[in-house]
Amino acid sequence: MLILALETSCDETSIALLRTGQEVITNTTHSQIKNYIHLGGVIPELASREHSKNIIPVLDKTLRKSRISLHEIDALAVAVKPGLPGSLLVGLTAAKTLAYLLHKPLIEVDHLIGHLYSTWLYKKPQLKPNFTFPLLYLTASGGHTSLILMHNHQVFQTLGKTLDDAAGEAFDKVAFLLGGPYPGGPFIAKLAQGGNPQAIAFPRGMIKHENFNFSFSGLKTAVYTFLKKQNQQAPPVSKKDIAASFQEAVVDSLLVKLNKAVQLYKPQHIMLAGGVSANARLRKKARMLFGKKLVYPQLRWCTDNAAMIGCAAYFSLP
Ligand code: KG4
Ligand code: ZN
Repeated sequence: MLILALETSCDETSIALLRTGQEVITNTTHSQIKNYIHLGGVIPELASREHSKNIIPVLDKTLRKSRISLHEIDALAVAVKPGLPGSLLVGLTAAKTLAYLLHKPLIEVDHLIGHLYSTWLYKKPQLKPNFTFPLLYLTASGGHTSLILMHNHQVFQTLGKTLDDAAGEAFDKVAFLLGGPYPGGPFIAKLAQGGNPQAIAFPRGMIKHENFNFSFSGLKTAVYTFLKKQNQQAPPVSKKDIAASFQEAVVDSLLVKLNKAVQLYKPQHIMLAGGVSANARLRKKARMLFGKKLVYPQLRWCTDNAAMIGCAAYFSLP
């Protein structure tokens, strides 16, 4: 079965072709990141205009690279929510038009469920992953942070989520405060490499609460307040130490709740997903806690891509 998948929920125009749901024949992504580097975040109106400019060239490139013609496709998949409404509409309109013209079914996918399938993708058949349910996911990106227990391909139980900022959003905002580019995650992670994660005891939001929810807005405010006060202090704490201490607070907040859920639900595998799952410190500390049970996506599938949307669509079929 060949699926053509489209993803335009934020600032990436991405189109992928998949065979039997998991094998990625090709995935083409046009990122708008360079437009927002100095702006601290995505401008929704600009993002949707860029998508409408890029959607056909990205489709052409995907088909050319795969050497597959539109008529060979069995079904289409598209991310429909959550995301920037104008941006989502560009992908949805393109997908509906193609489905109508080709007389093929269109499968609508929740972007968040899409992220969960980023660990299921493979390029070579001998690398096909094999998982046993239940799976416990920590999925964290610029728009969401959730703990999800996946019982099977139909039942996704949300155990908890962020009550305010998403983890990736906190990385983006703190990077902005430190004078870094958008997106902030890779910048903070690089800066933190030479820093001391114990230099400043930033708060770990909600870790003492019994539930599985998260909160990152207090941490962001703590960094802001620290930076303001530090202007009056001498000698100042280095940006490296601030970045490392902030990153450590995010990682600890995520892992305390993930670990609590692991103890309670005893999943077969523990999965990381979403843009923040690219974070090396998070991966390292999670590996120390969960050993071989831990699974994370290849770096290219952590951030938004159409391949994960196509995979989720395939497994949603009855
Ligand atoms: O999944 P994604 O591409 O988009 C959304 O669905 O939001 O995630 C993007 C987010 C951004 O907030 C970015 O700063 C964060 O993922 N991110 C990282 C890293 N790489 C990307 N956060 C921490 N460490 C990273 N290495
Ligand atoms: Zn995403």
